[in-house]
Amino acid sequence: MRRKLVVGNWKMFGRLARNKALLEGVMSGVSALRNTDCAVCVPYPYLGQVQTLLQGSNVAWGAQNMSQHEEGAYTGEVAPGMLLEFGCKYVILGHSERRGIYHEGDEMIALKFEAAIKAGLMPILCVGETLEERDAAVTEEVVARQLDAIVKKVGVKALENAVIAYEPVWAIGTGKTASPDQAQAVHAFIRQRVAKLDGQIAQGLCILYGGSVKAANAPELFSMPDIDGGLIGGASLVAEDFVAICRAGK
Ligand code: PGA
Repeated sequence: MRRKLVVGNWKMFGRLARNKALLEGVMSGVSALRNTDCAVCVPYPYLGQVQTLLQGSNVAWGAQNMSQHEEGAYTGEVAPGMLLEFGCKYVILGHSERRGIYHEGDEMIALKFEAAIKAGLMPILCVGETLEERDAAVTEEVVARQLDAIVKKVGVKALENAVIAYEPVWAIGTGKTASPDQAQAVHAFIRQRVAKLDGQIAQGLCILYGGSVKAANAPELFSMPDIDGGLIGGASLVAEDFVAICRAGK
């Protein structure tokens, strides 16, 4: 049985005072959870606060992006080693907002993925199709391309220390969740694709669903055989909502 994982993605939201109340609410709400791992991925400036507050709790933390470079003249960028200094376990890579708004392509995301693995961070690789792509029935093709770019760069073994998040772009922040069956179909596709290369890694691979996950729809989504938890945007900003989703993992 794979453990469930629920990760909050705060995106570019937060303020010191608000974060403190939110983190305290999350910590106390999930302290008794045994079979679900919980984490929050926060904006860089809050990593110090998160490290101080979450240290010793059962909530892990991480960042939402990072540079593929170890150091150098890259103004505005943040290196993997810097995330480690703040105790990060996870780093989200290839989120559709990075792909779409900041034009990060498969090749760059693969370089970042490789750098994360090398640093000992656990990448949460986001994949997913746009509405046009779903309508054109090329969802599997798109997800396969996004996944294959990573495997080609780092090899299938690297997935042992990684998480995949299937996030259909049309479901992110829209209130339109993929149905449990729609999500399950893509999750199964991802697992089968990895299984063709390494059955054991595929079996252990944690595949999260993301896109308008709420307390109300989380239990049904998380009960699907290939859905191992969620990547949560909007609902991760309200402690009781995020805690309820973490609890839905059982
Ligand atoms: P959402 O965001 O839960 O607000 O749809 C999910 C994500 O982008 O990770």
